[in-house]
Amino acid sequence: MEKTFIMIKPDGVRRGLMGEIIGRIERKGFKITKAKLFKPNVELVENHYMEHREKDFFNELVNFIAEDLVMAMKVEGEAVIEVMRLMIGHRDFKVASPGTIRGDFANTITQNIIHGSDSLESAKRELNLWFEEF
Ligand code: TYD
Ligand code: MG
Repeated sequence: MEKTFIMIKPDGVRRGLMGEIIGRIERKGFKITKAKLFKPNVELVENHYMEHREKDFFNELVNFIAEDLVMAMKVEGEAVIEVMRLMIGHRDFKVASPGTIRGDFANTITQNIIHGSDSLESAKRELNLWFEEF
């Protein structure tokens, strides 16, 4: 079965959206097979967002994620990578459709509630990074 890495970002945890988001994942029929709620260190978050290291928003993004608790999850299901990206919605809250997690709850660019791997390759890399597996 396909696997993906999902992270509820600190703003999602602080706003009390863990239950809402986990509920959506479960009601869709996907299986959460690992989860941990913890404050990641800067090194882990820099590694996670390595593809964006040259961007001007990189430091702001890393500091935001590393500043508070995140809920890291392994989620399994058919086509789960693509479907979770659809359920998450566009990175920009102004573009994200209502009915998506970001469309319903996000109101800033950097603090956009949730992360989901965007490809098989990034899912493997991120699950390995956050859960030391594969
Ligand atoms: P990106 O990989 O483009 O989006 P996604 O999370 O949908 O894969 O960007 C990663 C994160 O970087 C994004 O969720 C929020 C943050 N970000 C900013 O803080 N400022 C920006 O201008 C952009 C483009 C992204
Ligand atoms: Mg991305």
